[in-house]
Amino acid sequence: MEKKNIDWSSLGFSYVQTDMRYVSNYKNGAWDDGCLTDQASVTMSECACVLQYAQTCFEGMKAYTTQDGHIVCFRPDLNAQRMADSCRRLKMPVFPEDRFVKAVVETVRANAAWVPPYGSGASLYLRPFMFGSDAIIGVKPATEFQFRVFATPVGPYFKGGIKPLKLRICDYDRAAPRGTGHVKAGLNYAMSLYAIVDAHEQGYDENVYLDSGSRTFIEETGGANIVFIKGNTLVTPKSDTILPSITRRSLVQVAKDYLGMEVEEREVALSEIGDFTECGLCGTAAVISPVGTIVDHGKEIHYAGFGPTIQKLYDTLTGIQMGRIPAPEGWIEVIE
Ligand code: PLP
Ligand code: COI
Repeated sequence: MEKKNIDWSSLGFSYVQTDMRYVSNYKNGAWDDGCLTDQASVTMSECACVLQYAQTCFEGMKAYTTQDGHIVCFRPDLNAQRMADSCRRLKMPVFPEDRFVKAVVETVRANAAWVPPYGSGASLYLRPFMFGSDAIIGVKPATEFQFRVFATPVGPYFKGGIKPLKLRICDYDRAAPRGTGHVKAGLNYAMSLYAIVDAHEQGYDENVYLDSGSRTFIEETGGANIVFIKGNTLVTPKSDTILPSITRRSLVQVAKDYLGMEVEEREVALSEIGDFTECGLCGTAAVISPVGTIVDHGKEIHYAGFGPTIQKLYDTLTGIQMGRIPAPEGWIEVIE
């Protein structure tokens, strides 16, 4: 199969329309058989529940070309589980988890020419998502839904590639106690748009959100979880209002089982972040992006950027994803 003629290494994180996407519709209490389509646009009622009341959730995952030339996907079963959790919280019908994985695999296969080659630094980003599609005007859930998966080739998430990031402690909140911070609801991102535009205007790459209950603990950023390093220990915030990042859960296992590190998943106070030597953002899009500085209202805290431990975590995780390092059982779904 001939690859698309793209300068893979200059890709950023923006949408490129690819050939095929997967679509399935839910009506009268059941999902249809689903199929691949070349139709990239969606037509629906002006009163669709997603347009009026933001009834939508999504996932983010990547397909890679490995060193030995296979196309693989990283832990898609966990994305399927998390999307099921998001659907339950948002009163949407779960798209069965086995069908979710099959839909992702079909979408990748149908767009194999768009999977960046090994060593290019790029990957094929997959965006499974679901929305309430029928007309709803009183506040209640939709009764008809659409599940889709599209694919788009991407490079690094942060502008300027992999350079140490400058973050700020954000004065806006991302998620309320007992709210929806722990699921991947579109509404969580809508309400972060004001804060991210403001952060960029002030010269920051991202916002670090605090817990909105007490505003004393570190939560996560708008699009990634956070890890800190002190000595041989990885410390990462534990909270009911952050997204359970698959990358972070994988890094915890990598740190323990591959690198012999100690791991602390616990509340991390804003007042202690100066005690750490390294810091990184982790997520599907972010991979592990090294943090250089966190600014807390004029007070600057500096980290080693690509320090030795963040570098080791990055090399091991990406080595597993690209097939250079043996993966734990079940982490790699071989597509072709
Ligand atoms: N936190 C937020 C708010 C995110 O949007 C993401 C991206 O998916 C993550 C964390 C990282 O999660 P994952 O590693 O599963 O991609
Ligand atoms: C991802 O990492 O897949 C996300 O969904 C984060 C988003 C900010 C792009």
